[in-house]
Amino acid sequence: MTADGRRPGWENVDADADQARDYLDTVTRLDAIQASSRRDYELLHAEPGSQILDAGCGTGDDALLFGDLVGPEGDVVGIDKSQSLIEEANARADGTTTVEFQTGDIMNLSFADGTFDASRANRVLQHLPDPRGAVAELCRVTRPGGRIAVADPDWETCIVAAPDADPEVTAAVTAGEWADTLNPHIGRQLYALARDEGLTEIEIDPTTVVFTDFELASEVLYFDGRLEAMQDADVLSRDQADDWLEAVRRAGADDRLFCSITGYTVAGTVPPPDDT
Ligand SMILES: C[S@@+](CC[C@H](N)C(=O)[O-])C[C@H]1O[C@@H](n2cnc3c(N)ncnc32)[C@H](O)[C@@H]1O
Repeated sequence: MTADGRRPGWENVDADADQARDYLDTVTRLDAIQASSRRDYELLHAEPGSQILDAGCGTGDDALLFGDLVGPEGDVVGIDKSQSLIEEANARADGTTTVEFQTGDIMNLSFADGTFDASRANRVLQHLPDPRGAVAELCRVTRPGGRIAVADPDWETCIVAAPDADPEVTAAVTAGEWADTLNPHIGRQLYALARDEGLTEIEIDPTTVVFTDFELASEVLYFDGRLEAMQDADVLSRDQADDWLEAVRRAGADDRLFCSITGYTVAGTVPPPDDT
């Protein structure tokens, strides 16, 4: 979280890159997220020797995982808008020759048509003004017959169960609109986006992350940022926000807290140009 309690602005990570890196590291360490990244490799039909693009790669951990899996005959390229995260990814790459990181914009990729066997964007479309354009761009740089995977949470799936928390405040806090992301409902929209782009052989893979620890839930689900945004919008008083957060904290301390959020990976095969 940033010093003012809000999550990093993912449209401009370089404004607070350390916070963004720390947040991504917290999320990447979650077992469910690690398992999802490994399943993405399968959904991309990737194999040793594959050429893979990870667009919006962040600190590059998934690109490095894919680099290990495609082996020396393969190639993985990670691009990200953030110069700072690309520097971090290059530091983590530690001289590996299979993975290359570069700055770039998913909306205007610097690769020729059909460059990759598979392309993915993980938790990126939720932050873009034009997620449809991003899917089209991923399709463009992937060869016909290759695979695309786009994955995002749906913030309206957020559950916070704490026995003493005011249920009306809980319902308001967990509404997608306070998640402070451009497209809080993108998770449920990915399937239609994939269909509109003409993808075939579509597979949908949900990932639910469950939290029973208050600090972890609070960080990943942006409790502070949500409560602050609601107060700024005059839909919650300071007392209501403090009482709610204290009830949720107490539930965690009493081992009675249950929180979750679900994200979806939608993967499909890129059609030949004539079919689009
Ligand atoms: C929530 S992070 C996810 C990072 C990584 N994919 C992961 O799963 O750990 C969103 C990433 O998208 C990047 N991003 C945002 N807008 C972008 C754009 N237009 N082009 C490329 N990357 C972008 C951000 O810099 C950030 O690294």
